[in-house]
Amino acid sequence: MSSTHAQRYTRLLEEVRRHDRLYYVEAQPEISDAAYDRLYRELQDLEKFHPELADENSPTRKVGGAPLDSFRTVAHAVRMQSLNNTYSEQELEDFLGRVEKGLVGQSAEFAVEPKVDGLAVSVRYEKGRLVQGLTRGDGERGDDITENLKTIRNLPLSVRGLPERIEFRGEVYLPEPAFASMNRAREKKGEPLFANPRNAAAGTLKLLDSREVARRPLAIVFYGLGEVSGLSLKTQEELHRQILDWGLPGHVWFRLVRGTSGVLSAVRELDSARHNFSFATDGAVIKVNRLDQQKILGQTDKAPRWAIAYKYAPEQAETRLHAVTFQVGRTGVITPVAELEPVLLSGSTISRATLHNFEEVARKDIRVGDLVTIEKAGEVIPAVLSVNLKKRPAASRPIPIPQQCPVCGGPLSKEDVFLRCTSRDCVGQLKRRLQHFAHRGAMDIEGLGEVMAAQLVDAGLLQHVDQIYDLTEEKLSSLERMGEKSAANLLAGIAASKTRTLGRLIFALGIPQVGAVLSETLARRFGSLEKLAAASTSDLTQVNDVGPKVADEIAAFFHEPATRRLLSSLKKAGLNFTALKEELAERGGVFAGKKFVLTGTLSRPREEFIRQIQSLGGSVAGSVSAKTDYLLAGDEAGSKLDKARALEVRVLSEKDFEKLVGKDAGE
Ligand code: IVH
Repeated sequence: MSSTHAQRYTRLLEEVRRHDRLYYVEAQPEISDAAYDRLYRELQDLEKFHPELADENSPTRKVGGAPLDSFRTVAHAVRMQSLNNTYSEQELEDFLGRVEKGLVGQSAEFAVEPKVDGLAVSVRYEKGRLVQGLTRGDGERGDDITENLKTIRNLPLSVRGLPERIEFRGEVYLPEPAFASMNRAREKKGEPLFANPRNAAAGTLKLLDSREVARRPLAIVFYGLGEVSGLSLKTQEELHRQILDWGLPGHVWFRLVRGTSGVLSAVRELDSARHNFSFATDGAVIKVNRLDQQKILGQTDKAPRWAIAYKYAPEQAETRLHAVTFQVGRTGVITPVAELEPVLLSGSTISRATLHNFEEVARKDIRVGDLVTIEKAGEVIPAVLSVNLKKRPAASRPIPIPQQCPVCGGPLSKEDVFLRCTSRDCVGQLKRRLQHFAHRGAMDIEGLGEVMAAQLVDAGLLQHVDQIYDLTEEKLSSLERMGEKSAANLLAGIAASKTRTLGRLIFALGIPQVGAVLSETLARRFGSLEKLAAASTSDLTQVNDVGPKVADEIAAFFHEPATRRLLSSLKKAGLNFTALKEELAERGGVFAGKKFVLTGTLSRPREEFIRQIQSLGGSVAGSVSAKTDYLLAGDEAGSKLDKARALEVRVLSEKDFEKLVGKDAGE
């Protein structure tokens, strides 16, 4: 071993760690991703050829281990609490008043810090080594996600100088740029997109294969402690500094303030600083700084009395509306879309926003050339909120209302506030119908997402959805960038979809007003697609949840010649038109007559849980009431969980749920 190698190795190690910190903690990368990858690969190579040099904490060790069958749940040594939320400065003042009262006479200093919009976790180190990572779960018990957490690049596997036993509380997140590139890659592959970084991080942490987790650039930040022995800190400020001193990811941005005006100005300062952080921030957390004062104030069942979250209002920005384009949906509904001068909103550049429908456009008097205010509330797509009439340019033009379908030129009808293309041959509709048919909640065809659907239609390979079952490798070979392997994968995905349940097939047909839940009910009630197609409106209204209007829609859908053609073609392709035994088990199952409500982040798509519950005789409602039998609570469950507890509704974790389902299977 030459000492130059050793020197180079040490330098590289430091360098990669420094860039990890710049990227994850300070959100100020100094080098491009490609340059970072080169350094990282050099580090890997050196370790490969000189294993004696390799540091046990090298960033390259974060590769993940063998997949698990399921997560164990583990009790938290100290309960993981949540925070109360406030939405106005007045509520914040009320909180400060309560603190003052609680501290009878003592004055308090406050730490104001970012509220990270990620997933709460608890990470335990013993003798300086990372030994356990848990999700919050229901606060009492969480899932053991140690293997997944170990892959996180800015989370050291061992740390010098830690107390014997210490648990850190923090948030796992996906940095914004990584989220954007991950979604781009998924879009290319036709995989479903993640709605926001938080969902992407949640989905990733719940993967059972930590090698897959290692490929996604999750990051973590700590802001609190759980169980700890032999550490004497006096304030939250000291905790923040100590976390960083240990070389752990902590908050660099926090403010120490006093009084209402101090708190409010820190909260406002954070609002403008937060877009430069690598994590998404949806609010500020205000904490009493002194730990002895925190102790005096104590906690309620759910949340501490010494801390509160202040949520920022959805963000708005003003920009110029350059043009309006039209999107045609799967049922032909035409949505006007504003093409905007690109503007920064909630940390991302926005150049399009929905105008909802033409009545909205008229009501708000929105014109091309106007300065408009756009808003983005959390995860929803940005929308045009209002027009700045004072600054309306003389040359502004009213938005033209299309007289024919902007995609296919077909005739339009007006229904309620919507314009709808009534042509059955509209390619705009076809693309969306195809996308819906193949969607994960419907026929679940891998590789057939928005991009692929458009490609197939544009290449003229299909004029009707059912023609996907006539696709061949030869036909697909005409598509751009379609290799043999992806063609074979797509065809395999299409073939596999033939065995989907009747409920999924009904949903996939895209009957107006018929969602996933109702589709399952219809499958159970009628038992076959033929019987459903033949049902009269009065047969249909016998079904729970089907009113006269929906019954009319369903009957009308099955009367259309195009639907009849579609069904006979799907039948010929060999799709499953009859309900399976499990689908029919109406009252037999373990959940017979039970009412469920779902909440929080679950490890599988909600539709899957809904199907499972229904197939075992239960039903699903949207909100908790005294009639609810079970609340199925995933991670980060909020107000529904509180309400369920208050009403003494039985709360099930996913694990409890699986156990009950297992009983039904006779286990
Ligand atoms: S302190 C006992 N500080 O927001 C106090 N929480 O809506 C526990 N969160 O459950 C939380 N950033 O998952 C704290 N700087 C921060 C936070 C933070 C994000 C999360 C945390 C909490 C949730 C409440």
